[in-house]
Amino acid sequence: MDKLYHIVTYGCQMNVHESEKIAGILSELGYSSTEDMERADIVVFNTCCIRENAENHAYGNIGMLKKLKARNKNMLIAVGGCLTQQINKADDLHEKFPYVDIIFGTHNLNKLKEYILAKRLQKKAVIKIEECDGRIDEGDKPLRTSYPNAWVNITYGCNNFCTYCIVPYVRGRERSRKSQDIIAEVKELVADGYKEITLLGQNVNSYGNGGADIPFYELLEKLAAIEGKFRIRFMTSHPKDFSEELAKVMAGNSKICNCLHLPVQSGSDSILKAMNRRYSSEDYLKKVEILKKYIPDCAITTDLIVGFPGESEKDFEDTLELVKKVDFASAFTFVYSPREGTKAAEMPEQVDGEISKRRIMKLIELVNSQTRAHSALFVGKQVEVLCEGYDEKRNAYMGRSEHGRMVYFGCSENKIGEFVTVKINEANGISLIGEII
Ligand code: 5AD
Ligand code: SF4
Repeated sequence: MDKLYHIVTYGCQMNVHESEKIAGILSELGYSSTEDMERADIVVFNTCCIRENAENHAYGNIGMLKKLKARNKNMLIAVGGCLTQQINKADDLHEKFPYVDIIFGTHNLNKLKEYILAKRLQKKAVIKIEECDGRIDEGDKPLRTSYPNAWVNITYGCNNFCTYCIVPYVRGRERSRKSQDIIAEVKELVADGYKEITLLGQNVNSYGNGGADIPFYELLEKLAAIEGKFRIRFMTSHPKDFSEELAKVMAGNSKICNCLHLPVQSGSDSILKAMNRRYSSEDYLKKVEILKKYIPDCAITTDLIVGFPGESEKDFEDTLELVKKVDFASAFTFVYSPREGTKAAEMPEQVDGEISKRRIMKLIELVNSQTRAHSALFVGKQVEVLCEGYDEKRNAYMGRSEHGRMVYFGCSENKIGEFVTVKINEANGISLIGEII
């Protein structure tokens, strides 16, 4: 019988895709997947440390495995990802959870096979954290789990050093994959029947730094020229690098979805400066204007942080003002979380937790009202949906519209992996409900 693996993923899409790479390595070693952690021969935690709650969540779950490991001594536990890559965290983790067998970081995921084999031969834990050597490993074949969607990395790491953010410290300097490698991967995915390709990078707009041969908009054009019916999405875009050329390419290619995730973080110029975002609220609004000029129906989404050190009531009001002006299709809202080693964590004017809580509630209320209004615009319209799966609870198929809205619809046949036309009858928050026509 096959040995079984169970992977627990925290954090962003980037991590979800990295877990697919971990799954690829484990399946090469003869493991197959199980949903039931108790039956697993190896459990891998792919962690995130972007905010304190993501980190605490992982700690809590690793802690809960102690009993399971006591019952099943042969079970291997591995912990990797951003959390372990922080300074001294691997040793802390080992001290806190001595029953964890393997600890690896963000730059040596490709060596997991070697670590598992080593651990089978030794009693002591394998703890291996490496620094970024700037190389890109093209060897890992992910075991994809999100058909008909496929994630494709185009850049790794980040050079921006936003003062609140831990990513540049745990993911290293920005490096771009060669365009021919990306194009070959996307061609293969399309030939294999994947219908939605999401290009991933901390800052896809600066594709070209550290090794790439063409700018991002040209890469997009080349990908959009690949034959077949499929969609292209990409994330995340940094506003400072968003260009008119990119807006033109998006507008000119129907395969590129009319949506853009453009994190603004704050609407206050002094906070944006303290965050080292390198744009003002006016610069951001100009980029939005360009985008709307070329793609009037573009669904613009964003990330917002409240409670950054020194954020005054006026700064917060500026954020609300900007959100009102842009009218986002939806937004992720976060309370600032100090991350050890970042500049902002050392800033003297940390904002009181109660104030941040009040601000985020107010912001969520505004963002939700915009989300509902955007959803309502679809009622009575027909939208093209890529069917992704079946929702047991709702007893309906589901998939996304081009604009990124989740759409639920009843259907007597299995449509997973197909583009269908759905007439929207109802809007419910961020999702839409309709019927197939
Ligand atoms: N605190 C709160 N939110 C953060 N983000 C990144 N770092 C922090 C932090 N320290 C948010 C930003 C980013 C998103 C991925 O996570 O909004 O765009
Ligand atoms: Fe973090 Fe800023 Fe880089 Fe995004 S652009 S990963 S927020 S440092």
